[in-house]
Amino acid sequence: MQEFGGSSTWEKLERVGRYLSAYQIALKNQSFRKIYIDPFAGTGYWTPKVARDQLHLALSERIEIAKGSALRALEVEPPFDRYIFIEKKPGNFSALQKNISLKFPNLLNRIEFINADANHALIHLCRSVDWNENRAVTFLDPFGMQVDWATLSAIAGTHSVDVWYLFPSHMGVARTVTHNPQVPPHFRKALDRIYGTTDWEDYFYRVSSQGLLFVEDAPSVERVATLQRIESYTRLRLESIFKGGVAKKAVPMDRDGRNMYLLFFAVGNPKPAARELALRLANNILE
Ligand SMILES: C[S@@+](CC[C@H](N)C(=O)[O-])C[C@H]1O[C@@H](n2cnc3c(N)ncnc32)[C@H](O)[C@@H]1O
Repeated sequence: MQEFGGSSTWEKLERVGRYLSAYQIALKNQSFRKIYIDPFAGTGYWTPKVARDQLHLALSERIEIAKGSALRALEVEPPFDRYIFIEKKPGNFSALQKNISLKFPNLLNRIEFINADANHALIHLCRSVDWNENRAVTFLDPFGMQVDWATLSAIAGTHSVDVWYLFPSHMGVARTVTHNPQVPPHFRKALDRIYGTTDWEDYFYRVSSQGLLFVEDAPSVERVATLQRIESYTRLRLESIFKGGVAKKAVPMDRDGRNMYLLFFAVGNPKPAARELALRLANNILE
């Protein structure tokens, strides 16, 4: 099963799942405790679009494919010492609790469920966990522009958390950087919040003198927010806080041939052995 319904959802889950397995195997003899944090945990399952040529799949195979990030993390061997699942929407939260309790009763004593906003919960966690004794991996999997820069800064500041970030390149940024350079205030606010700065404006717009015939003509401002520029600016921003580095490649996640998200990987730990290991594992998966 290489692909399911042409789904990039399945692909991102596979990639992150492979990292979690590789991480747990590589670090199994380390004395620190390992935590998996899923701040946009959903219900435990997603709804795959079944492509015609996959209709032959047995129900069990379809259920296998439909497992979301939380269930996949709980299957990793050896298991994490602690799992933290955060979900804001009450209906999704209770479904998540139910699905996990049914499937993983043996791991319940390691699991915390938090029904809250991911940003608040993550900032609180970053402050309250003893990062001398713990390491973590988190998978930021929002629908849109829900991850605040302040949250990423708090995560990076622990120097102990590896991050997979499904960045909303099109499903957020490209739509918000309007063709008209007079970006509406609420879009501006959303961009400031996701990037933690107003510099995006210098990167995504350029003063153009093309077509100017007279010195008194006002230069026009043109939008240059291509996918490549969104990717390189986002990488620069992440590199400014994740001292362990950011994987060179971000995987484009497409729908109907159009880029929707970019899957980034960033490392909090600046120590050479830790960062080299994390980047090596992730680079294999991002290829
Ligand atoms: C793309 S889905 C996540 C899917 C999940 N990772 C999986 O693999 O099944 C995003 C989830 O985040 C939740 N959500 C949206 N905004 C949130 C926020 N600010 N804090 C916490 N959860 C949020 C949504 O209710 C939704 O369940």
